[in-house]
Amino acid sequence: MDFVEIMKGKAVSKQKKLVLPEGTEPRTIKAARIIIDERLAASVTLLGETANIQTAAEKEGVNLGGIHIVCPKTDTKLNSYAHEYYELRKHKGMTEEQAKIDMADPLRWGAMMVHLNEADAMVAGAENTTGDVLRAGLAIIGTVPGLKTASSCFVMAGLDSQWGADGAMIFSDCAVIPDPTAEQLADISESAARSCREFLGVEPVAALLSFSTKGSAKHDNVAKVQSAVEILKGRNPGFVFDGELQADAALVPSVTDKKAPGSPVKGKVNTLVFPDLGAGNIGYKLVQRLGNAEAFGPFLQGFAKPISDLSRGASVDDIVTTCAVTLSRAQ
Ligand code: ACO
Repeated sequence: MDFVEIMKGKAVSKQKKLVLPEGTEPRTIKAARIIIDERLAASVTLLGETANIQTAAEKEGVNLGGIHIVCPKTDTKLNSYAHEYYELRKHKGMTEEQAKIDMADPLRWGAMMVHLNEADAMVAGAENTTGDVLRAGLAIIGTVPGLKTASSCFVMAGLDSQWGADGAMIFSDCAVIPDPTAEQLADISESAARSCREFLGVEPVAALLSFSTKGSAKHDNVAKVQSAVEILKGRNPGFVFDGELQADAALVPSVTDKKAPGSPVKGKVNTLVFPDLGAGNIGYKLVQRLGNAEAFGPFLQGFAKPISDLSRGASVDDIVTTCAVTLSRAQ
């Protein structure tokens, strides 16, 4: 499967509106040009001071034709955005005055555009940290109804075709929550299942991974995964899952038969849910490097509207791909 081409095709057919808060950042400006030229979005808005964006674009030789520019500090919508932000955050002690200061921040402005449906998707992180992008999204866009947790996933592609959906799988959470609670792990599993449908186009079959299979070891970390499985069962989430399972018991049918006989995921797993960020982050990198797989992501999941974080080392192509993926999820 050519994941990038499939996502680009979806973005082209959806024609959604994209906001890029890091409007003076050279790779972001180049990506905006490509996104317009390849018709991946109906519109692209760069945020920042107009003169600075123009200077940066000239320096890079990028023509800004067809790209919108909005300066949060001087835009006429500042007061109305600040009021909306105040309404969203007043229960946390936000004042009207502070809201106006906060809304001049492009990350919050971009999130507000998405919240108010003035943009359909936001991508940032070429110069801001993951934490800053996440906090803007959490404060303004919030999580999808029914879930309290934002998390992330990777699409691992180019694996042997016996694994997952013709060699592609979802790994989650590999980038956001260092030590999820059982409740958060259940949320991560539900979000990963949605990502599986959206990105792989198949029904999710999820394994909640552990270093124990069905009580073979006893530890707080094992008990947490067991609780997450029980919470998920109680929610009746509409996809096949099982846990706690070791990776081999999840993936290799002969081992499943020995360690978890009768498991509904036997031989079909396409979504791996890791017990914590240490396991998830190390796990995806091992598969990528030692298994020679392609790792696309991290893609944020669990937000009410599509937003994505970038690695600060992202190339222009990486930014374009992330934008296409994020646009492909927009409703
Ligand atoms: N889902 C939903 N809400 C959340 C989450 C979450 N995952 N995390 C925090 N919140 C909420 C908090 O409840 C709080 O809500 P409130 O303001 O309404 O009270 C708000 O978000 C802000 O919480 P903070 O305490 O300020 O944030 P915290 O310090 O917990 O940090 C964050 C949260 C930013 C998501 C943090 O866990 C983080 O930085 N994660 C990223 C880890 C990382 O660095 N990953 C990158 C390396 S891995 C890679 O790139 C592949």
